[in-house]
Amino acid sequence: MTWWRNAVLYQVYVRSFADSNDDGVGDLPGLISRLDHLAWLGVDAIWCTPITASPDRDFGYDVSDYLAVQPIFGTLDDVRDLVAEAGRRGIRVLLDLVPNHTSDRHPWFRDPSRRSWYVWSDRPNNWVSGFGGSAWEYHPGVGRWYLHNFLKEQPDLDWWNEEVRAEFDRILRFWLDLGVAGFRVDVADGMVKDRWLRDNPPASPEDEWTPRPRGQRFVFNRYRPETHEVLRRWRRIADAYRPPRVLLGEVMVREPEEWAAYYGHGDELHLVTNFRFQFASFEPVSLSEVVEASLAALGDAPWAVPLWHGSNHDFSRFPTRWCHGDDRLVRLALTMLLTLPGACILYQGDEIGMEDVPVPPERRRDPVGRDPERTPMHWSGAVNAGFTGGEPWLPLGDHRSRNVADQRRDPGSLLHLTRGLIRLKKRLRGPYERQPGGSGCWRYRRGSTTVELDFEAPAARIAEA
Ligand code: GLC
Repeated sequence: MTWWRNAVLYQVYVRSFADSNDDGVGDLPGLISRLDHLAWLGVDAIWCTPITASPDRDFGYDVSDYLAVQPIFGTLDDVRDLVAEAGRRGIRVLLDLVPNHTSDRHPWFRDPSRRSWYVWSDRPNNWVSGFGGSAWEYHPGVGRWYLHNFLKEQPDLDWWNEEVRAEFDRILRFWLDLGVAGFRVDVADGMVKDRWLRDNPPASPEDEWTPRPRGQRFVFNRYRPETHEVLRRWRRIADAYRPPRVLLGEVMVREPEEWAAYYGHGDELHLVTNFRFQFASFEPVSLSEVVEASLAALGDAPWAVPLWHGSNHDFSRFPTRWCHGDDRLVRLALTMLLTLPGACILYQGDEIGMEDVPVPPERRRDPVGRDPERTPMHWSGAVNAGFTGGEPWLPLGDHRSRNVADQRRDPGSLLHLTRGLIRLKKRLRGPYERQPGGSGCWRYRRGSTTVELDFEAPAARIAEA
């Protein structure tokens, strides 16, 4: 029942995974055609980045219809096929839910009778957008300012409004009824805003721990206690399904205790992203400190399932950021990710050590520069990496030196290592126990298995008693 306790989730950035119709953009039939790779690898579930209708200012994270599939990706029947085909291979499908904001082209935002579904003010306060600049935009038609915690084309919904809550209950049920195993919830820590829209205080140095400094402490535009009520409401919906569905929340907090709070008392999110871990520097002291503080904050409650990830579609990939392209370090990182207790997310390409790809200015597509971590998957050394028969929407990396097909043929490759580690993960039992290790070394036990991460060699050693 609680399959996610020890799960490997695989993040599919749909636009860049596999293209079936040669328009240069990945799609659902393409994804289905590559499920055998994921089954061979041994993942438990996939999380697909948004596949719903969108003008793509923020590539799917600006939704214009929560119940319709973006035509470039396919149809609702393709989603049904995906769920069925993945299910046949023992793989569950999680969709991305984007509740904090819609697209400014969503009919709700254009409907005068739904003004109160969004956050408006007569006077902008000091809040800044997560993407930089003021979080307020003047709407001439309305004569007031609307809130956008991201792009100005992404107006924030007003989660104090019961109609908004009821509408999202329906959206959740629509997809859950269709058979999806749950959701990755975008900005799960941000839905409800301060009722009085009070100014945020200035940042202190410990607030600037993410790669994108904000200049102020997000107190009133994010992380409000009332957001936990919304998560509890969704947990009740998820738990009422058979089998129960899973909520994986994108939560970006620094303190392990704050992170753990999003699990509630087993009545909020099942899995919570740990960005403090993702942004830790790649050396044994900072990594082990974050891991141990996270485990301590979570405790041994039955719902406590930590989650580890090194890459995603928003920040530099770990083989670049942590490992500077050194495959010995990539081996270390994969071993760490897949032997820590709990669940783990691999981002597409992590299994072959895919790096960020430099994207020349004229080919950039993302307004805030996240293209290097979003380039197409390297399936083979063939033209266009086996990703598309057309012109890929973003440039390819060095797919001749690093791709799935070649690594499949080489038992010593990162791909085979990842597969072996996933198999090992399924056997690992027991809590994390720190062991004494020399300098530059991080050793821990899981039951009768000892993991030694030697950052100086660098080398990872696993001893099974
Ligand atoms: C999340 C997504 C990111 C998106 C943002 C706004 O952080 O992961 O890609 O731009 O939310 O929706």
